[in-house]
Amino acid sequence: MEIDFTPINFSENLGEFKRSLKQFFSNSPSQKVVLLCDTNTLENCYTKIADLPFLKEAEIIEVEPGEASKNIEIANHIWENLLELDFTKADIIINLGGGMICDLGGFVASTFKRGMRFIHIPTTYLAMVDASIGGKQGINLLNTKNQVGVINAQEATFICPDFLDTLPQREIISGLAETIKHGLIGNSEIWQKAEENLTNLTGLDLIKKSIEVKQHIVNLDPYEKGERKKLNFGHTIGHALENVDGNGLLHGEAVAHGMLVEAFISWQKEFLSELEFNKIKALIISNYGNPTLEIESISKLIIKDKKNLSEKINFTLLHSIGSSSIDNNLDLDEVKELLDKFNRLL
Ligand SMILES: NC(=O)c1ccc[n+]([C@@H]2O[C@H](COP(=O)([O-])OP(=O)(O)OC[C@H]3O[C@@H](n4cnc5c(N)ncnc54)[C@H](O)[C@@H]3O)[C@@H](O)[C@H]2O)c1
Ligand SMILES: [Zn+2]
Repeated sequence: MEIDFTPINFSENLGEFKRSLKQFFSNSPSQKVVLLCDTNTLENCYTKIADLPFLKEAEIIEVEPGEASKNIEIANHIWENLLELDFTKADIIINLGGGMICDLGGFVASTFKRGMRFIHIPTTYLAMVDASIGGKQGINLLNTKNQVGVINAQEATFICPDFLDTLPQREIISGLAETIKHGLIGNSEIWQKAEENLTNLTGLDLIKKSIEVKQHIVNLDPYEKGERKKLNFGHTIGHALENVDGNGLLHGEAVAHGMLVEAFISWQKEFLSELEFNKIKALIISNYGNPTLEIESISKLIIKDKKNLSEKINFTLLHSIGSSSIDNNLDLDEVKELLDKFNRLL
């Protein structure tokens, strides 16, 4: 089945953004609107656009910020609200927030009445370049991430970097890891801009280029049969690092460390040159610090990874900066040896 992932609307500033959103609503058939946000995006983002005419009438559903809200109880609470408010398939949910809100709201909308309309307004860097693109909507189960969900494209995504003004710097740097990833797997120009200065990546031009890498890949392979696995670069190790107890890493920080380790594996498997590995190492360590690898805890977590089809561990590896390959399957013992070698190198 084809999915149309194309409608992404970019605005340089809030004025332009509000005009585009207003136009979208004036072109759409009359509908009721619900705006989903968390406490932080209500305070920092909704207030920037609250004067839009269609928002004056909108119902607002606010949830607690953080990953803990991305669960079935909160989804149920939103479904019940929609039902009590007599929402139909023709009505629309605006997801105003980071990846947590986009995933949760996208999932609720995709399943309510077997699918109502929804749009994403991502307000974190990570959500702009990653979570609001590509149609994956879902929730967590028993503290395990993204176990229940659908692939279903939003009607549109509206992107405006002005929302980043209030986002804590740590969240921005963390989100930049996904754009660094897009550069490493598919666009060396993004990588060069990151090497010049990481903050280059927060401009609208680079946000667009980053999204183009993901859009291109998801259009080729919406259901992750092949090419889409490229987007998992850095995530096999990254997800494990994110889930090691007490690590306290944000998603992008863990992915940055995961990319360094997986670039090391790419070098050791003689795909990537030592020179390019060293460039990656320098950029990641200077912005995200040194990774700490506890080999036993990481091994337990990667073996549970939902991407593995057998006892082998599935990696996307780099061939050069800007080029990657999928389905490199390694035995766990080999991975452990490589992690040990990595620890000795740093
Ligand atoms: N669907 C996908 O393809 C996809 C891809 C990547 C990540 N994700 C999901 O995205 C989630 C992570 O997203 P995230 O990093 O955006 O986290 P998040 O949505 O939890 O936002 C991070 C923090 O920033 C706050 N915030 C958001 N926008 C703000 C703003 N403009 N000003 C001030 N504070 C603001 C939030 O309230 C929260 O406290 C995870 O659940 C992850 O699984 C999904
Ligand atoms: Zn990620």
